[in-house]
Amino acid sequence: MSTTPLIVSDHAVALLSSVAWFAAGVTLALRRVRTALAALAAAVLVTLVRVVTVAMLAGRGWWFVQEKVLLGLPLLGAAATGAVLLAGPRLLAARRGRGDGGSAAGVVAVLTAAYAALAGFAVTFLGGYPLTPSTALITISLVCAGALLTARVVAPPARNAAAAGAARAPEDGREVSRRRFVAWTGGAVVATAAGAGTGLSLLSTPSVALGGGPGRSSRATASVAGLRFSGAPAPGGAVRRHVLTAKKATVRLASGREIDAWTYNGEVPGPAITATQGDLIEVRLRNADIEDSVTLHWHGYDVPCGDDGAPGVTQKDVGPGADFVYRFRADQVGTYWYHTHHASHVGVHKGLYGTLVVRPRDGRGTGDHLPAERTDLTLPVHTFEGTVVIADRDGRTVHDVSPGEPVRLRLINTDSVPHRIVLAGTPFRVAAVDGRDLNRPGEVEDVGLRLAAGGRYDLVFVMPDTPVALVVDDDRDGGLLLRPHADAGDARAEDTSGLPELDLLRYGAPAAVPFDARDADRHFTMVLDRGVAMVDGRPAYAQTVNGRGHPSIPDQLVAEGDIVRFTVVNRSLETHPWHLHGHAVLILSRDGTPATGSPLWVDTFDVRPGETWEVAFRAANPGIWMNHCHNLPHAHQGMMLRLRYDGVTTPFGGSHGASPGHGSTT
Ligand code: C2O
Ligand code: CU
Repeated sequence: MSTTPLIVSDHAVALLSSVAWFAAGVTLALRRVRTALAALAAAVLVTLVRVVTVAMLAGRGWWFVQEKVLLGLPLLGAAATGAVLLAGPRLLAARRGRGDGGSAAGVVAVLTAAYAALAGFAVTFLGGYPLTPSTALITISLVCAGALLTARVVAPPARNAAAAGAARAPEDGREVSRRRFVAWTGGAVVATAAGAGTGLSLLSTPSVALGGGPGRSSRATASVAGLRFSGAPAPGGAVRRHVLTAKKATVRLASGREIDAWTYNGEVPGPAITATQGDLIEVRLRNADIEDSVTLHWHGYDVPCGDDGAPGVTQKDVGPGADFVYRFRADQVGTYWYHTHHASHVGVHKGLYGTLVVRPRDGRGTGDHLPAERTDLTLPVHTFEGTVVIADRDGRTVHDVSPGEPVRLRLINTDSVPHRIVLAGTPFRVAAVDGRDLNRPGEVEDVGLRLAAGGRYDLVFVMPDTPVALVVDDDRDGGLLLRPHADAGDARAEDTSGLPELDLLRYGAPAAVPFDARDADRHFTMVLDRGVAMVDGRPAYAQTVNGRGHPSIPDQLVAEGDIVRFTVVNRSLETHPWHLHGHAVLILSRDGTPATGSPLWVDTFDVRPGETWEVAFRAANPGIWMNHCHNLPHAHQGMMLRLRYDGVTTPFGGSHGASPGHGSTT
């Protein structure tokens, strides 16, 4: 069973238990003996069930239950015990005809249990992991304040005691002052605790990297501004020069539909950048009229840090009229893409992206010659106003391919959500993931592929003499049709929605990897969730990492040469495609199950709700690198941090930098 149903049922049980405790409290106050007794029994029962759901969830990892085990359940347990002891005996007696079942203390105790149940629920939703002392203090004081207030209402200390419905002997002065004393001290304790909690949460500094390894001796300081490419193309390589001008344009799609886009050179996608391994790529970015500023980030390409395009970290953002030149050598072969990294949740969505494909320089083709596959299509998938556009076409695209011809389809997900990809009508191989070749990928057929936001798949096959359809998101009216001959007809694809998903963690053959991830020098855990946190100086219901939002998430500090391990835990109910700049990571395991197929090197891995992923990489590209969720609105809502090499500084953005996912628009 996956973890998500456990998370959801625990939420449901938690909610149910607060409802039951409130019902018990209210019916008890109204002296509805039978109903109150039933509600109380139900509340106790649901609370016990809650213990079970939390215990089951704990089996999936401490991150999923920490605040429940340390705060929510103990608080509720204490209050519930008090409630049962104070209210239970009188209720039972009343059922046997003795008394009216109620007492002020009983009502207060039962309602306090209700507050405790509700508070635990709120802590899970608003705070999450890790539980901080300040959250604990604030929660406990709020519950106590609730109890005190309830006590004042249910059993007023002074003369209107009778009006509260409880018949009791008139109180003497000593009794009244004793109650006052209790109320005042209680109030003072609550206020102090709440104040201390708030103070703690304001004072806690984000400067210490969570989970960092032992410190290393500091290296000489280097600025990212100096981490630029300064070499030449490899022998025999060419210089590939491009000018990309960011500008607004109305773009006409194949269907005739027009979209208001933000473009590079008036095109969507931007100009395709291609190179042969060893070429030098030099791109001058100009900004014509994007007031928001732009940059170019080479997604998945391990360029020198100063060419990475993260505004406020590796460069200044490029405003209207400004420009910036990127240079790097095309040493990595494969399928990549580029996009703006300034206010990227807006800019990429509106069209500021393009493809980058580097082909090998070997027997398979050199220079501008064709590679082994004569049909080699680069297919970025992007959604404009609800319409899926593949490459530059919406609707269905038809290509004629001769039977027997090798075909390569390079799929790129430029959206913020995953796409489901099906290749119908032929067996095929997934030759590469995120640009990196897989080891001995086997032939598969009738499977669906889930392509993470930002991710790429290279699919290869030999064209059969029957049509082949590329179906995206099981939409049989769109996608691509490859026809063996022009008269093969426009066969609609089969219904592909029922096809099982190929698990890439078990695909291809294992092979040696360049390091042993078991003796990592650094280990960072990132628990992804939603919660109340500061994002860019404002409180928000944020997308959080370890309870914090950008830029308050501590930097992850590494030293060059370190083996770094990430544990990424998704506590939320949304998918988080995790993306590290400047490095590919090796997938070690998902939910504790080791990856057993081809070594899987990716720059984006899709962490679905309830999942826990372990990945590792060697820190071999010094700089300050963004490390974020590639659901770009999530990054904008706080889910973004930096991996910083010891000794590397940035002149571009103070201690944390302007936020690459943010910018002036919100
Ligand atoms: Cu493709 Cu930081 O992103
Ligand atoms: Cu996300």
